[in-house]
Amino acid sequence: MQPYTPRFLSDQAQRTKPTRQYLYQQTKWSHAPLCIDIGCGAGAISPEIANEIAHSTVIGFDIDSNLLTKAMNEPNLNHAVHYVLADAMALPFRRVIADFALSHFTMMWIQDRIQALKEIQNTLLPNGSLACIEPDYTGRIELHKIHSHIQSKPPFPIVTALTRLGADPCTGSQLPSDLTSLAFHDVQFGVLSWTFNSGSIRSEIKSEAKLLQDKGIDWTEPTFIYTPIFWVHATKSR
Ligand SMILES: C[S@@+](CC[C@H](N)C(=O)[O-])C[C@H]1O[C@@H](n2cnc3c(N)ncnc32)[C@H](O)[C@@H]1O
Repeated sequence: MQPYTPRFLSDQAQRTKPTRQYLYQQTKWSHAPLCIDIGCGAGAISPEIANEIAHSTVIGFDIDSNLLTKAMNEPNLNHAVHYVLADAMALPFRRVIADFALSHFTMMWIQDRIQALKEIQNTLLPNGSLACIEPDYTGRIELHKIHSHIQSKPPFPIVTALTRLGADPCTGSQLPSDLTSLAFHDVQFGVLSWTFNSGSIRSEIKSEAKLLQDKGIDWTEPTFIYTPIFWVHATKSR
């Protein structure tokens, strides 16, 4: 069982919304663009793409039929959004169709990321763009109250837990070189900046504590955690 619920995904999507808005503005299309939401989960983001990118049609796809059912049962379903059951490593699209593709916390969960990136590249039209928002848990900061505010050093327990679940915890920092090696051009990237508040830190620590407990991993609960989240934007060559 994966450690994310529709509620968790929706809260996570809310926190990264300003970065997605920046990414949507990176390209302007003279026609109605077709966009794909890679691993759309419970549909936290697909309707937003349809609203933010003018005249777009969005295909959200995911490998998890339970999450897709949640997305499709959304009461105010946007008619520009279509959901499909599909594996990013073997996409069912037989033609080059997409102007824009987004991965939000999906690449880290895909077994063979390079294969998925190749499939997406094959689905993108020339000059189509790919945007990703993905974390790197290996670059995190954990502060502890006991032992007089020492900082934890790697390996972090959360990295062990995610690896056991089959995720690649350092995906965010790997994507720029992955995309460069696949001959995407204009590869730009950065790290999201956060404003912390005690409530959000507490709920993040609580959700990690549960995950680590479920995985039977010992963890001295920190007072503060920070995980760098990378955004990457790249264009498919002509
Ligand atoms: C952390 S969730 C993110 C969901 C969504 N992008 C969001 O931000 O709300 C990761 C998603 O990736 C999907 N996923 C994992 N491997 C996949 C694959 N090979 N093909 C398609 N989706 C996949 C999972 O089912 C899950 O919905």
